[in-house]
Amino acid sequence: MAGSLAAQTQIPRAWDDAAVASVTLPLAVADASPVQIPSRYYYGIPVRPIYKSYPVYHPEKEPPGYIDELKQREPEIAFPASVLRSPEDWIRDGELVFDAPLSYGSIAGPRSDLYVRDPAWRQYVGIPVARDGTVPFYRYVIRKKGTIELGVFSCAMCHTRVMPDGSVVKGAQGNFPFDRALARDTSAQSFPLSLFRPFLTRRFERMLYAAPWMNPDAYPGLENLSWQDVVARHASIPPGVIARHGTSPLTPVKVPDLIGIQERRYLDATGLMRHREIADLMRYATMNQETDVFARYRDFVPSEAVPVIMGKLPADPGKLASGRYGDEQLYALALYLYSLKPPPNPNQFDAGAAQGKKVFDREGCSGCHTPPAYTNNMLTLAPGFKPPPDHWQKYHILNVSVGTDPDLALKTRRGTGYYKVPSLRGLWYRGPLEHSGSVATLEDWFDPARLRDDYVPTGFKGYGVKARAVKGHEFGLHLSAEDKRALIAFLRTL
Ligand code: HEC
Ligand code: HEC
Repeated sequence: MAGSLAAQTQIPRAWDDAAVASVTLPLAVADASPVQIPSRYYYGIPVRPIYKSYPVYHPEKEPPGYIDELKQREPEIAFPASVLRSPEDWIRDGELVFDAPLSYGSIAGPRSDLYVRDPAWRQYVGIPVARDGTVPFYRYVIRKKGTIELGVFSCAMCHTRVMPDGSVVKGAQGNFPFDRALARDTSAQSFPLSLFRPFLTRRFERMLYAAPWMNPDAYPGLENLSWQDVVARHASIPPGVIARHGTSPLTPVKVPDLIGIQERRYLDATGLMRHREIADLMRYATMNQETDVFARYRDFVPSEAVPVIMGKLPADPGKLASGRYGDEQLYALALYLYSLKPPPNPNQFDAGAAQGKKVFDREGCSGCHTPPAYTNNMLTLAPGFKPPPDHWQKYHILNVSVGTDPDLALKTRRGTGYYKVPSLRGLWYRGPLEHSGSVATLEDWFDPARLRDDYVPTGFKGYGVKARAVKGHEFGLHLSAEDKRALIAFLRTL
């Protein structure tokens, strides 16, 4: 079967050593840049099967007898759905990969109960529920007849948005309260994991966030925090912003909109990864979901921070139970992401918006946010960063800084020293904005009060922070109220 598939389509090779080495930008501290695992090891890791999965409902919206019915189901492999694929079949298969969990249980470790049905869990996490009664961030999976498992860490978990009207937009800036869920699930770890909680929680945080070549890094004092302190830091992060591994709970990052991804030359707020061809998107997915915790940053290998659970890579990659995506899965996934379309925009290009477009052009926004992608796909400098001379030829760099907070770009494992110019498409359905999601709305982004130290950020505030300035990007702040209204009306049509 594999032979006939290969004959049909040239599936790009995700883990090509040379392409993997050049896909990431060097870190701001260049000699701490990661060395990824070699391809001969990568291709020895078993490919995770993708099982058929089922929607998770709010218990009050569930069809009668649903759970009992699931218990009668046989396990079924869902991918690939077809062998001879049309382009549409590839995209459909890619959606299966997007929805496929990486692991089962909770996002803070193994668990066998269906805890998302617990009203106390839902109330703490504040999880959005779609109009059809589903909670589209989780899936039920049957790997063994009679056992229903909660599938977690799919792309869909973080990259799905439930809109105010209850519709679901896949690929949009997600609004799953990931860090609230992580906080809750860490607090509720069951025995025997709970026995090691004080120790393991810090170790997990180190695996996810440490950048030991920085002193201090973006998570200062971690070694002295109690597990409750750690939980409180995660709980302070609002939906739409995530302490993704390689950032930190004190410098989390907004979830990007994946709709329109094919137009972007750099991936991540810091432009950490290049997007030269479809295979780079495949590399992005597998690196972020499974392999970059095994990379070596000087003498630091993140996974080794958790000796009992992950530790050193086994000599035999076949023993790596967490598995990986197959190239065929990654290719289908990338084709699916390229196919994503925005939801129909309710904002008309009316007279107000036309006036706003004039303001946009007059203010020079289009120099950076150049139509039609509304980004020039360039990197700007984080305050204090001086690129090494060879970068000017290798990358697309604008020799300016917009002056936003430099910590993510300078002090973390995703820190390249740069912030990319983000696309302005889809602003009407997403938020919070700015790389750390510090402002909730466009009105807040263009409010000059945000430059003051007594400003209360409307998006991500920071743990224990009552007020702080959201600095930088002063474009458009000085406009008259009328021009500002028009500009925002225009931006909402994109
Ligand atoms: C735990 C939550 C989470 C999961 C799971 C997740 N992502 Fe992301 N993803 C993020 C966050 C947060 C960012 C922003 C990172 C940054 O800017 O540094 C991101 C960034 C991206 C980007 C960069 C987009 C851009 O324009 O910069 C792509 C592409 C992407 N994710 C695809 C995927 C795919 C495909 C999957 C599944 C294979 C996936 N993600 C799983 C949270 C997640
Ligand atoms: C010199 C280049 C440059 C110019 C000029 C510029 N921007 Fe930006 N813009 C950026 C960068 C870089 C960011 C990301 C900053 C960050 O996240 O730290 C950004 C972010 C934004 C965001 C937030 C987007 C998001 O997804 O979080 C909006 C909205 C925006 N700009 C609108 C405008 C408007 C409107 C103008 C003109 C009044 C303008 N920009 C002028 C470079 C520029």
